[in-house]
Amino acid sequence: MPENDPKIIVALDFASADPARQFVKNISPDLCRLKIGKELFTASGPDLVREFIDDGFDIFLDLKFHDIPNTVNKAVTAACELGVWMLNVHALGGRTMMEAAREAVQGYSATRQPYLIAVSILTSTNQQGLSDLGIDKPLQQMVMDLTAMSLDSGLDGMVCSAREVELLRQQFGQKPLLVTPGIRPAGSAQDDQQRVMSPHQAMQAGSSYLVIGRPVTQSVDPVQTLKQINNSLLTP
Ligand code: C5P
Repeated sequence: MPENDPKIIVALDFASADPARQFVKNISPDLCRLKIGKELFTASGPDLVREFIDDGFDIFLDLKFHDIPNTVNKAVTAACELGVWMLNVHALGGRTMMEAAREAVQGYSATRQPYLIAVSILTSTNQQGLSDLGIDKPLQQMVMDLTAMSLDSGLDGMVCSAREVELLRQQFGQKPLLVTPGIRPAGSAQDDQQRVMSPHQAMQAGSSYLVIGRPVTQSVDPVQTLKQINNSLLTP
């Protein structure tokens, strides 16, 4: 694990291993951690995760497990065996599933236990989307209730919008890890993100870690961009 606890988690949203390797070989683990999601993992598998861990990077395995408790328990065990730093599940998988995930993590010694966090409601889901699923609860209440259930199931925190962080901190205190995407440094393209926050704003609001993809991976000078963002976080 890098000693300086970098706050940026770069989303490696690449279609295959080669462009991901190309990007990673130019950066270093003291600048950022790395997130591997469904696209890259499905294309390139656990070997690539091992390769980047061997290079010294902390990996957030963003596979959002959602299945019967036994299957999730086994999948989380496999992720622990890989040696990832953080992984996640869908809170909508329910309390028993999340407890099964937590039990898998707790089977490892403290130094080998990855952080286990949950996704509440995907930011691509709106109130109509919930209603289509037969859920009439206001979306924000749903986020709060699923967060309460996740933390109560022994999870370490949540993936959430930086806009939700303040409210979640008020309700759940300082302990939970809050990992926030939708981050855009000043001057970078908004892409398809609807409501963005700057890295500095997001940390001020109470984020624990920032997930940043394209502003870094598509930068002409990713190292410089990472250094600039890290520096921006040092100012009060
Ligand atoms: O390129 P960009 O910074 O928009 O990438 C953000 C990353 O965070 C992507 O991997 C995206 O899938 C992920 N993410 C998100 N919004 C969420 C959850 C995850 O943008 N609510």
